[in-house]
Amino acid sequence: MKITIKDASKFVDQEVTIGGWLASKRSSGKIAFLQIRDGSGFIQGVVVKADVGEEIFARAKSVTQETSMYVTGVIQKDERSPFGFELQVKDIEIIHESLDYPITPKAHGPEFLMDNRHLWLRSKRQHAVMKIRNEIIRATYEFFNEEGFVKVDPPILTGSAPEGTSELFATKYFDEDAYLSQSGQLYMEAAAMALGKVFSFGPTFRAEKSKTRRHLIEFWMIEPEMAFIEFKENLEVQEQFVSSIVQSVLKNCQLELNTLGRDTAKLEQIQAPFPRITYDDAIKFLHEQGFEDIQWGDDFGAPHETAIAESYDKPVFITHYPTKIKPFYMQPAPDREEVVLCADLIAPEGYGEIIGGSERIHDQKLLEQRINEHGLSEDAYKWYMELRKYGSVPHSGFGLGLERTVAWISGVEHVRETIPFPRLLNRLYP
Ligand code: 4AD
Ligand code: MG
Repeated sequence: MKITIKDASKFVDQEVTIGGWLASKRSSGKIAFLQIRDGSGFIQGVVVKADVGEEIFARAKSVTQETSMYVTGVIQKDERSPFGFELQVKDIEIIHESLDYPITPKAHGPEFLMDNRHLWLRSKRQHAVMKIRNEIIRATYEFFNEEGFVKVDPPILTGSAPEGTSELFATKYFDEDAYLSQSGQLYMEAAAMALGKVFSFGPTFRAEKSKTRRHLIEFWMIEPEMAFIEFKENLEVQEQFVSSIVQSVLKNCQLELNTLGRDTAKLEQIQAPFPRITYDDAIKFLHEQGFEDIQWGDDFGAPHETAIAESYDKPVFITHYPTKIKPFYMQPAPDREEVVLCADLIAPEGYGEIIGGSERIHDQKLLEQRINEHGLSEDAYKWYMELRKYGSVPHSGFGLGLERTVAWISGVEHVRETIPFPRLLNRLYP
């Protein structure tokens, strides 16, 4: 019977065959321990010379890292293994021998590992991160479907730049200028007027010159947009959503969190509601903490966000940023023109901003004025303006960056480990 490792528990005391690769091995004169991986998981194969005979034992001792093989044996319960099972090996059939695998058990530097990303993905740690990423994606679809949202896919090739023009990837669309999408938001606003509550999930592109542990050039964003939802209600959806994905990972990825050495007590606390602090109070707080350089009207840098986040054991919303430092589409606060009804959600433990969101301007005149102030082309935004012409309603939405969220929940330091093939400043290979 051919099985995958994740199903081992269903085959205790039965003889099975697993197609897998050799992750690592240890051996002595009489016994060899093969760490086998098959994509679904990892299992230890135990090869006892006295049981298998000279030939198969010699094969087990000489098998090299990443050699592919069919291993046949009996599944047995094993309390010591993190997985709970091991394979008492009876036979090994080599499929393809792997020689000189570059990623050895010794420590390698990040540039070497990034050059070998196509192979590095096979490691136990990268496997765990990818499984957590997958669980977050699964839980995202589950959450929004249960809440009555409709998935809508905005275009990737666009003629407009919602988040400002400085970070655009420009390309040609036959004779016209086009850009790779920085955010699907504007299209999602149109979709919300058609379907009420919508969400998108897709790749977005920013030609950012930032070389930090939080920045990718190509990253995936989840962008919900909701008609008739105002600023405060928007925050409630966000805290429910983030709590639900963290709790799903805790429930379904114990093994992976354990592999990564994640402190799960910190994740258990991630339950709605989350604290809120205004931009004004955040500035005051930073001054008290000795950040003298920052003034009202400045955007926060990573050290500022980290200092604020350290006061809480949950993600924290920073609300009501100055209008001047936010995009053109945000609704001003009713009694204070100089701030907008927006919030950034800052993750704990120094992972920085994972969500940016706001209530959107729904007044036609005000939006026109903003488009002009920001020097945007009225032609390119004509369709967007028309959403305010035909039955405009208050509406809100947000964007959650998948990779920063994966980094935080997994507890990995750098976003480059949270996406299969990261696009970074100066890296397009592999
Ligand atoms: O705050 P941002 O720029 O917001 C928007 O794009 C809105 N239009 C979203 C909306 O309201 N529909 O980006 C949203 C999130 C950030 O909070 C961050 O998590 C992530 O996207 N993000 C990045 N992640 C990795 N690398 C980058 N270069 C990122 N830029 C933004
Ligand atoms: Mg932002």
